[in-house]
Amino acid sequence: MTDKFMGNNGEQPLEERISELKRAKNAVILAHNYQRAEVQDMADFVGDSLELSQKAAKTEASVIVFCGVHFMAETASILNPQKTVLLPDAGAGCPMANMITADQLRQKKAELPGATVVTYINSSAEVKAESDYCCTSANGVRVVQSIPAKEIIFVPDQYLGAFIAGKTGKEMVLWPGYCPTHMRILPEDIEARRKEHPQAKVVVHPECRPDVVALADEALSTSGMIRYAAREDVRELIVGTEVDILHRMNKENPGKVFIAASKKAVCPNMKKITLEKVLWSLETLTPEVKVPEEIRVRARRAVDRMLAIG
Ligand code: 13P
Ligand code: SF4
Repeated sequence: MTDKFMGNNGEQPLEERISELKRAKNAVILAHNYQRAEVQDMADFVGDSLELSQKAAKTEASVIVFCGVHFMAETASILNPQKTVLLPDAGAGCPMANMITADQLRQKKAELPGATVVTYINSSAEVKAESDYCCTSANGVRVVQSIPAKEIIFVPDQYLGAFIAGKTGKEMVLWPGYCPTHMRILPEDIEARRKEHPQAKVVVHPECRPDVVALADEALSTSGMIRYAAREDVRELIVGTEVDILHRMNKENPGKVFIAASKKAVCPNMKKITLEKVLWSLETLTPEVKVPEEIRVRARRAVDRMLAIG
């Protein structure tokens, strides 16, 4: 066996087998910017949550292999009920999305009647179904700015919520959810990296703690960071998000220097997707992610409102 992975027939490289099956089954592979390098390299499109849902809304493929976490595949299924949406590891969830249930949100709405609910895309379909608007880290500020209502409930990420409230000046009731991966990036990490690389710019994800965001030059979505990395005036960049985003930055910007703010910022759920599982998923057309129709229709309203804002 060479260092290249082999397919399950023991002879053909895994990548070739995946490409063949993809054609045979009219499938498209979508991957998030945090996926393993080899999964990103195999994908038809790599992007942030907003770009991936836009792609999912437009694809003509009959099968979508979603290399990301459960809520992302669910969003693809909300937008494409007639298509087969596969999540190569059914256990790839997002702990932040699990920090609020539909029951808990209904209770919060009952406490604050008249408030508009804005829900981060990192949430279950059931929670989206209870929401007025969906948003991602790329368009959260635009979505909230577009809402005339005075009172806004924002779930589940308290830190993205605080970031949006700061940018828009809106009064927002924040749910106490957080991302365990971004919580691992500490202010002292940013300070240490800045000392080691005094010329470098610093970008972080708005899921980071506010004292980390305060030390950065910009807080951006993952694809916002990818665009920032490509800027001509950026030669060295300290990156405060999941470490595998560096693969795409290095690949697209030879000669530039990218530094992880903390090597501890690994999302174990994103890492559950492997090429072997992508192949197995295409072979068996499982595990499929499907949302019950009654929930899908209500969740879709919130997602469509977001997509209309862009
Ligand atoms: P993006 O939408 O910025 O890609 O973020 C998704 C995510 O899960 C961040 O942890
Ligand atoms: Fe969820 Fe955080 Fe992983 Fe993003 S990085 S998928 S928010 S656990």
